[in-house]
Order: sequence, then structure tokens, then C-alpha cells
Amino acid sequence: MALTRHAHELIRQHFVGGPHRLAIDATCGNGHDCEFLLNLGFEKVIAFDVQQQALSQTQARLNDEQRARVQLVLDGHQNIASHTKQRVDCLMFNLGYLPHTDKSITTQKATTLTALEAAIELLSPQGLLSILCYPGHPAGAVETQAVQTWAAELNSSWLVRTELSRSPKPTAPLLLLVTHKQTK
Ligand SMILES: C[S@@+](CC[C@H](N)C(=O)[O-])C[C@H]1O[C@@H](n2cnc3c(N)ncnc32)[C@H](O)[C@@H]1O
Repeated sequence: MALTRHAHELIRQHFVGGPHRLAIDATCGNGHDCEFLLNLGFEKVIAFDVQQQALSQTQARLNDEQRARVQLVLDGHQNIASHTKQRVDCLMFNLGYLPHTDKSITTQKATTLTALEAAIELLSPQGLLSILCYPGHPAGAVETQAVQTWAAELNSSWLVRTELSRSPKPTAPLLLLVTHKQTK
């Protein structure tokens, strides 16, 4: 199973029985994760991207009922905290660049780390932070290393689960799931 699908499966399992109040898609891209979160039943999804193209594609993917529950934000996820002060149940980071477009518009170590710090401040007690990393391109390799270090240095009130791709290659994607230790 591809790691993106595996991430969806693990998120689905985590949220059996709720809560499904607010989710953030920190990198909305083509909108697959946003659509997944809406289908899972979140009352509201705030979706960020730095590219208008990504927001437009996400908008086009959704039906009217889903569009009514989504807030599309043309801004970097490093600014998440200035867009919501509410507790967030699920935060998804699917890092990297939009497939088949300009690979130079990719998530970057510094802004990703700023966003992750904001994410754990916003995460609800029963919430889940999911981070899918792609070390197979130069900026992604640097970013993945930094994200792994960041997760390893979280204090003992956090649980970090790492899921690896089936591929044994060091360039294969990896998934980090972060929760409060006192979760449901
Ligand atoms: C791998 S794609 C995301 C795929 C998407 N979640 C989906 O389901 O189709 C990564 C996205 O991150 C966006 N991105 C890059 N830097 C960003 C930033 N600082 N804040 C938010 N999005 C960013 C890119 O424009 C790109 O669309």
C-alpha cells in the first residue's frame, strides 16, 4: 500500500468515534487529502497552499456540500497560527512539491519546522498530527532529516510513531504520526 493511502487508513482508524470538529490540510496540493478529511466527516477543514493553482484544483475537486465546509487559504503553513486560534483535531502535512509542476515550489525545512511548532500548539488533546516526508529530492532530504530531529526532540508528553515505506531505499517516503501521550 502506498504510504499516502496508509496515512489515510491510520488517520481513519484514529478518528473512529471522533472528534471531527476542525482539521487542517497544511499542503492542499491537488486536494486529495482535503477531500479525504471532508469525507471522514470533519465539520470544517482549513486548507493551505502557497500556489493559487493548488487551491483552484482543490476547489474543483470538491462538491458543493464539501465546499461549504472548507476554507481555502493562499498562504504558507508557517502562518497557520494567524488563521485560527481554535483547537485542531487533525493536521496533515504532505510535504514536497505538487506533482507534475514546478518542483522548485516545494516545502522547505525552515518554514516546515515553524509550522510544526504551531501545529503542536494547536493540536487538541485527542488530536493527530500526520507528516509525510519525501527525502528523494534535495530539499526533501534536508527537510526530512530536520523533521525527524524535531520529532525526536519533542518532550515526553508526545508520542511519535514512524511508518516506513515498504521500499528499503533511504530515499523512500516516511510518515510520522504525533499525538499527545494522554490520548483517547
Ligand atoms: C505533495 S503536495 C501536497 C499534496 C496534497 N496534500 C494532495 O492531497 O494532493 C505539496 C504542496 O505543498 C505546497 N507548499 C509548498 N510550500 C508550502 C508552504 N510553505 N505552505 C503551504 N503549502 C506549501 C506546494 O505548493 C504543494 O502544492
